[in-house]
Amino acid sequence: MTSHTTTNAPVALVTGANKGVGHAIARQLAALPATVYLGARDEDRGRTAAAELTANGHDVRFLHLDVTDTATADLAAKRIEEEAGRLDILVNNAGISTPWQPPSQTPLDDMRRSFETNVLGVITVTNAMLPLLRRSEAARIVNISSVIGSLTAAAENHDPTGAFPDGSFPNTLGYPVSKTAVNALTVMYANELRDEGILVNAVSPNWVPTDANGHTGLLTLEQGARLPVAMATLPDGGPTGTFTCADHTGSGLALPW
Ligand SMILES: NC(=O)c1ccc[n+]([C@@H]2O[C@H](COP(=O)([O-])OP(=O)(O)OC[C@H]3O[C@@H](n4cnc5c(N)ncnc54)[C@H](OP(=O)(O)O)[C@@H]3O)[C@@H](O)[C@H]2O)c1
Repeated sequence: MTSHTTTNAPVALVTGANKGVGHAIARQLAALPATVYLGARDEDRGRTAAAELTANGHDVRFLHLDVTDTATADLAAKRIEEEAGRLDILVNNAGISTPWQPPSQTPLDDMRRSFETNVLGVITVTNAMLPLLRRSEAARIVNISSVIGSLTAAAENHDPTGAFPDGSFPNTLGYPVSKTAVNALTVMYANELRDEGILVNAVSPNWVPTDANGHTGLLTLEQGARLPVAMATLPDGGPTGTFTCADHTGSGLALPW
């Protein structure tokens, strides 16, 4: 069945939105309201997650999208073009973690897997969606990052004034280095797209309970999703090329690179 977007509500795509942070972001965007394409690599999981949100009366559409597969990204863009004609919001959320081991013991395959999803996946989806984002009057890109991608936080491990004064920064390569790369590419895209009014920002949801971390956290999923949603709906002239972290208030804190 083909459905067409008939309202002026923003059109959004969230990758890896069948659960966790992505699902919470999709839920909040849908409630704005927005037409939300709920990206998922697994059809059953994606359809089930979308059905949960459409049950609330929201316009949420499962979109098959494996961020490591360029063909699915191109097909996803084609479908959004046919149904909506443009994309206003892209949230690059899909991410994986790899086993936390000391740098000297990191298997290269873990690095490849981590970069394939967390870094190349962002580039794949962003480049596939840019023609549609360029048709928006207020396009926004949010790349989901982590404080663990902060080189300053890593360098200040054990520093009483740093983010990890107790030395608890996870001194491992796969996940942290991939998020540092996400921060770097965020700045590069922001610089390229600034003159077109497309705002590109890296946002950490803070630490929130999901399957990825054994359901531990400091904030609830809903709290963690608020800042990504705020950055996805920035007014014209809003910040671009920034790195911020969700907090209890939903307004966010600037993070050091
Ligand atoms: N949880 C936290 O405290 C926290 C903190 C900082 C940053 N983050 C970031 O938040 C984002 C979401 O993480 P989460 O905690 O919500 O983890 P999660 O519950 O494990 O969710 C990860 C999502 O990404 C999807 N995904 C993985 N590989 C994919 C691929 N190749 N193509 C499409 N989707 C893919 C997963 O799909 P499947 O269900 O098919 O596996 C799932 O929907 C990640 O970027 C993560 O780094 C999380």
